[in-house]
Amino acid sequence: MPKLWAGVTAGITDPVADDFNSSIRFDRRMYRQDIRGSMAHAAMLAARGIISEAERDCLTDGLAGILEDLDSGALAFDLQCEDIHMFVEQELTRRIGDTGKKLHTARSRNDQVALDLRMYLREEITEIGGLTEALIAALSDAAEAHKASIMPGYTHLQRAQPVSFGHYLMAYAMMLLRDLDRLADCKKRMNVSPIGCCALAGTTYDTDRQMEAELLGFDSIALNSMDGVSDRDFAVELLSALSIEMMHLSRLAEELILWASWEFKFIELSDAYTTGSSIMPQKRNADMAELVRGKTGRVYGDLIGLLTTLKGLPLAYNKDMQEDKEGVFDACDTVKMCLRVFAPMIATMQVRTDNMLRAAQTGFINATDLADYLVRKGLPFRSAYKISGQIVARCMAEGQVLETLPLAAYREFSPLFEEDLYREIDLKTCVEKRISEGGTSEASVEKQIAYVRTVLEHD
Ligand code: ARG
Repeated sequence: MPKLWAGVTAGITDPVADDFNSSIRFDRRMYRQDIRGSMAHAAMLAARGIISEAERDCLTDGLAGILEDLDSGALAFDLQCEDIHMFVEQELTRRIGDTGKKLHTARSRNDQVALDLRMYLREEITEIGGLTEALIAALSDAAEAHKASIMPGYTHLQRAQPVSFGHYLMAYAMMLLRDLDRLADCKKRMNVSPIGCCALAGTTYDTDRQMEAELLGFDSIALNSMDGVSDRDFAVELLSALSIEMMHLSRLAEELILWASWEFKFIELSDAYTTGSSIMPQKRNADMAELVRGKTGRVYGDLIGLLTTLKGLPLAYNKDMQEDKEGVFDACDTVKMCLRVFAPMIATMQVRTDNMLRAAQTGFINATDLADYLVRKGLPFRSAYKISGQIVARCMAEGQVLETLPLAAYREFSPLFEEDLYREIDLKTCVEKRISEGGTSEASVEKQIAYVRTVLEHD
C-alpha cells in the first residue's frame, strides 16, 4: 500500500527500509497523547472555521472510538504503519471516511511528535516524582527509628566520627529532595506547546495555538516554530535529572551492599530483596541493590546517546530525532523500576544497631572529641590535635581504646586531663554534642525529618 505521504514519490519503499524507518514499535506507547492532541486539534480547527462543527464531532467520535479500542485491546497496532501518528490517522480514515483526511490540516508530524513526547514525558515526571517521594518517606521513617543509633561515619571509607544511622539516611533524603526539585523544574520548561509550529515555519491558516495549548494543559506555546519542532532539550534535561537521581540511588545501593556484607553486617536486607546462590547455600546476595547500581550506567548511556544524536543536527527536524524516544523511554522505565524496589527494600531492612555500635567503638572515632576537650580547657586546637594523636598511637601500641586508657596515662600527656574526659569521649556524647545546624545530634536529625516531611506534604 502506498504511504500516506505518497506525493512526489510513489510512496512505496523497500520492506527492509520500511522496517528500518518505522518507529511504531516504540512510539505506540504515546497513543493516548497522540489521540488527545488530535482531539484538541480538531476542536481548534472547528473553532477557527477551518472545518465544520459536524466534521469536528465526527473526528472526535472517531478518535474516541480508537482510544477506547486501543485501551481495551480490541484494536491492534498495525506495525506496517510508519509511526503512531500515521497509524491513528489511517485508522481514523478507515473508520469515518474522507473527513478523517481533514485532521492533518495546519499541522505536521514534526509538531505532532514534539507534542506527544512532551505530553508523555510530563506524565512520566509526575509518576517518577511520586515514586521518589515514596522513597524519601521510607528513608525518613527509618531515620526516625534510628535517630539515636550510633554508627561510624566514614571519610575515605575509614572510620571518621560517630554519627547516627538516622543522620546518615537523611543525607540521602536531602539528595532525593533535590532530585524532585530538578524534575519539577524540568517539567516547567517541558510544558510548552509546540503544536501549530507545523513542519517548521508555521502555517498560513488562521490557527489558535493558545487554545490548543490550553486544551492540552500546557502553560504556554513555543514562540519560535523552528525551535518548537527541532529541539529536544526537554528530553535531555529529563535524562540528566534522571542520571543524577540514579547516581544518588547507586551510591545508596553501593552502601547497602557494603552494609549487608559480613564485613560490616550493619543491616540485613529482607529475603524479599535478596537472592540465593545456585551453588553456595549460605549466600544472600543484594541483587536488587546491585542492579540499581548497574542500571545507573544504562541511564547515563541514554543521556549521552541523545546528546550525541542531537549535537550535529541542522535545524529543523531531521529523522535522526526519531532516535530520541527509545533512550528516554528506557531511562524512565529503568528509574521507575529501581524506585519501586528501593522504597520497600529500605522499609523492610533490619538494622543491626549492635554491630554498628561495635564498629563505632573501635577505630578511635572519638579522637576529634578528645582534641576538642583540650581546646575547651584552653589549648589551641593544633596543639590539642597533636597530643590526641600521640594518645591514639599509645592506645594502639597497648591494645587500648580511648575509653579504657587510665587517667594517669592521659595526664602524662597533659595535666589538663581530668576525670570528666571520659564523659566527653563517650560516643553518645560525641553524637549528642554535635548540635550545630545540620549536625548529627538527635535534635538536628528530628529537625531534618520534620523539614523533609513538610516539603513532601506541600508537594
Ligand atoms: N516518527 C517520527 C519521529 O519519531 C515522527 C516525525 C516524522 N516526521 C517526518 N517528517 N518524517 O520523529
